[in-house]
Amino acid sequence: MPTQSSSNVTTMRWSNGALEMIDQRVLPARFEYLAYDSAAAMAEGIRSMVVRGAPAIGCAAAYGVALEALRLEKSSPEAFRSGMEKGFEILAGSRPTAINLFWALARMRRIWDAAGNAANAVVSARLLEEAHEILAEDIRINRAMGAAGAALLADGARVLTHCNAGALATAGWGTALGVIRSAVEAGKKISVIADETRPFLQGARLTAWEMVQENIPVTLITDNMAGHLMAHGEVNAVVVGTDRVAANGDVANKIGTYMVAVLARRHNIPFYVACPLSTIDRNIASGADIPIEERAAEEVMGFRETQWAAQGVNIRNPAFDVTPAELVTGLITEKGVVLAPDREKVAALFD
Ligand code: MRU
Repeated sequence: MPTQSSSNVTTMRWSNGALEMIDQRVLPARFEYLAYDSAAAMAEGIRSMVVRGAPAIGCAAAYGVALEALRLEKSSPEAFRSGMEKGFEILAGSRPTAINLFWALARMRRIWDAAGNAANAVVSARLLEEAHEILAEDIRINRAMGAAGAALLADGARVLTHCNAGALATAGWGTALGVIRSAVEAGKKISVIADETRPFLQGARLTAWEMVQENIPVTLITDNMAGHLMAHGEVNAVVVGTDRVAANGDVANKIGTYMVAVLARRHNIPFYVACPLSTIDRNIASGADIPIEERAAEEVMGFRETQWAAQGVNIRNPAFDVTPAELVTGLITEKGVVLAPDREKVAALFD
């Protein structure tokens, strides 16, 4: 069984033959788990953002594959094979930007392939074991990134983050918030400035909640306040997560990250990206080729039942943007910090 992250948030857990996940759509008003028992249900959970954040999406997709195999265990070999192929397909179509989704599916497919003609029950047991391993590994990686990144933050630092790259976005501990947790664990006094992160409010609803759970001082701002705080010397460093890093070090992350990176450069504030190697897509040359998810207009027109925009207005809702590598002070990985990332340095991480 997977290890615990030792942060106070268990984003997903295996229980009674199903994967239970915190419903991140309703936090912080309600804290509840939803149970998933098939690839189709899991794909819907990912699409509708019950679970979100690149590493967490990867873990959830891995469990989606394992759950599908368990569900089809009693089927004929032919029905098992076609059902599994369908499961992979529906999971791959759930969200386009986070590479961890496709990374996890490729890893699960290798396990299935390696099982050859083994009985369905043997295949499903191996797939479940691999999903548990992906989850446990993610926590170990976050811990390693945390240790590497904590050294970059000075005692007393005020750290701005965008979106939620915390325990909720991973199997536990977090990437960007993992760096902050590790710095706090090392005895540093760190305070967090959380961008609210329009339109889905991951910063206001999730990052602020996570930090409050852990008694890490957190101040919530709207996205358009970051420049003002930077100009007044109230931000010492920026740490964000990422959904996909191209081979040249360009970084796709939650919409608004690019704006923060430009502001950070303008004010000589270091801009760090916490990035597990599973988030690096070496098949994509630059950020220009990263697929950017466009989400529903309703997210911009209002929130839940409140609508503030006029019916009939044109809406754009790209969910991610790309920060060019030249604006990135360093990538924080489980293999250490890569300062001023470029194609050669990114490639060297895989040597
Ligand atoms: O749309 P989301 O909430 O899935 O977007 C999440 C982010 O942009 C995170 O910053 C990123 O996935 C890194 S999570 C460790």
